[in-house]
Amino acid sequence: MSIFDGRLQIEVAVSSGIEAVVKRELISLGYLPGGADRGRITFEGDFKDAFRANMFLRAANRVRVVLCRFDADSFDALFDELCAYDWQFVMPLGAKVIVDAKSHASKLFALSAIQSVSKKAIVSKLCEKYGVESLEESGETYRVEISLDGDVATVTLDLSGEGLHKRGYRVYLGEAPIRETLASAMIQLSVWNPDRPLIDPFCGSGTIPIEAAMIGLNIASGSMREFACESFKFAPKIFDEVRQEARDLERRDRQLKISGFDIDPAAIRLARKHALRAGVADAIHLQVGDMRDVSSNRKYGVIITNPPYGERLMSEGELKDLYRDFGKMTSRLDSWSVYAITSYKGFEKYFGKTADKTRKLYNSELECRLYRFLSAPPPKRVKAEDHDKSDI
Ligand SMILES: C[S@@+](CC[C@H](N)C(=O)[O-])C[C@H]1O[C@@H](n2cnc3c(N)ncnc32)[C@H](O)[C@@H]1O
Repeated sequence: MSIFDGRLQIEVAVSSGIEAVVKRELISLGYLPGGADRGRITFEGDFKDAFRANMFLRAANRVRVVLCRFDADSFDALFDELCAYDWQFVMPLGAKVIVDAKSHASKLFALSAIQSVSKKAIVSKLCEKYGVESLEESGETYRVEISLDGDVATVTLDLSGEGLHKRGYRVYLGEAPIRETLASAMIQLSVWNPDRPLIDPFCGSGTIPIEAAMIGLNIASGSMREFACESFKFAPKIFDEVRQEARDLERRDRQLKISGFDIDPAAIRLARKHALRAGVADAIHLQVGDMRDVSSNRKYGVIITNPPYGERLMSEGELKDLYRDFGKMTSRLDSWSVYAITSYKGFEKYFGKTADKTRKLYNSELECRLYRFLSAPPPKRVKAEDHDKSDI
């Protein structure tokens, strides 16, 4: 018997500002997500559903399964409740147990003490059930999180391993790259769809064009990597089935109109390597070039970009000039919509237009705004709901 054979409460960790994107992704995967609460969205499903969430969610940070929830207003209560849980149905003898802790408005706030008390409880229960004196912990890793909110402890098990932004294609680090999950969220927040042209004029190591191509070709975000739960001894072996589902859904022959430009030849070299690794090199056009020279004969395209913020890459004066010239460049593409993320507060002033919508997002820890400048939709063939879908 294992907990992975039954119904599970599955918890998806999301960054602030993109909860609605992940909820929409879950709904399109066929699930019924609850509301977002402190960066977590939950839904019910079985182990295969949890693995599908890992495989297909593009904007989520990680997937966990909720093991138990109980009141814990003292370390004794925490220890006793964790000892009462049937850990032998989660992990085998030899499991390497790592405990993370979080505390919010709780009597128990010393994270290292929460971690050590919890670990002691889990290990003592496993020792008792397996009839051993001590655990060797030489096997696979099981990462347990104890999250205290007030006096309520929620205990989860991580299924992802490395964060879901690690798709597996970005092996070389460029200058100030954006997380793959955030890039995907920006694309999903935009009016872009695979029939419309997309340009990233500051593409750096290629994250935005690559994520757009993966959406366009329907390549699952997790298809190039492995997940921690694939090595769980008691997990049902549904992995090949889900990987096959992902392959069956791919549409690699689809023609896309996605381009990325960067002034730095090294960045474009990197972007090409990443595109190759992601299997989308034939679907995107990557070119060394100054954003000031970017133009297109196509109409009704979408610019989605992460320009320099000036934190490290250039002086404030240079940044203002760059944003001014970026504004002029986009004026030439007057039927195109523009989405730009930056932490620089004066962006709209120098860009020369006021955004019709802004959204607070975080690039890692840095607070940013995603500025939207929407143009009219194409006259035909684009359904109204495609054009309005950014209003989530
Ligand atoms: C914040 S980084 C983009 C990172 C990218 N989103 C990624 O994930 O790797 C900004 C990029 O703008 C490029 N850049 C700066 N000035 C430019 C210009 N005038 N034209 C085109 N690219 C420029 C830089 O070389 C840098 O790669």
